[in-house]
Amino acid sequence: MERLQKVIAHAGIASRRKAEDLILQGKVKVNGVVVRELGTKVDSTDEVEVDNVLIESEKKVYHLLYKPRSVISAVSDDRGRKTVVDLFPEVEERIFPVGRLDYETSGVLLLTNDGDFANKLTHPRYNIDKTYVAKIKGVLQREEIRALEKGVKLEDGMTAPAKVNVISADAKLDKSIVAITIHEGRNRQVRRMFEAVGHPVSKLKRENFAFLTTLGLNAGESRQLTTHEVKQLRVLSETGKIGN
Ligand code: URA
Repeated sequence: MERLQKVIAHAGIASRRKAEDLILQGKVKVNGVVVRELGTKVDSTDEVEVDNVLIESEKKVYHLLYKPRSVISAVSDDRGRKTVVDLFPEVEERIFPVGRLDYETSGVLLLTNDGDFANKLTHPRYNIDKTYVAKIKGVLQREEIRALEKGVKLEDGMTAPAKVNVISADAKLDKSIVAITIHEGRNRQVRRMFEAVGHPVSKLKRENFAFLTTLGLNAGESRQLTTHEVKQLRVLSETGKIGN
């Protein structure tokens, strides 16, 4: 059973707020009867009409975007910045990003209109691995790598164990390229982890979200996930393993 305003919003007719207004205005019927109660719950067998038109739930869509830098991971922005949803002018469904990448971070970002799928993939309990490649200042010392791997103390607590792989290190130019795999998704986590060991990040890309990469895409381009990939992500989020 779902709340009526949620069902209307999911059908792509209006935002949840707007759906509440429609209910209060008496424009919504359930099984032929006008309903003005905001808490009303319905299930898939109930017939919901808005302005006398029967609603059908929006088909679920799943997109993989190579998020470019300088784009915000949100559906809208009150400061007028370009959002990841603006990169999908042709898509009619009400998609939203699964989790977020910072404004200046690029890489793999999923967008969908499937809230249950998005919740599963972003909930820390479900342990989806994400690999980031960071350009950092300086060269990591062995103890610093160990600290990142074991967990570092951030203002919102210790980080879970991570995998760290130094791709290149240049003492003369005072910079390194480092891959780090984490499964948590705290705000600006990778940047804060490197900062905590004294090596600020100057550039960050998410190379992998689980088994997904940006391969074949340029920044700003996207593709739809295959049915198989969606299934694999569901299995992975539920069991921690990839099914076939
Ligand atoms: N960690 C960060 O610091 N930024 C991101 O966008 C994602 C993870």
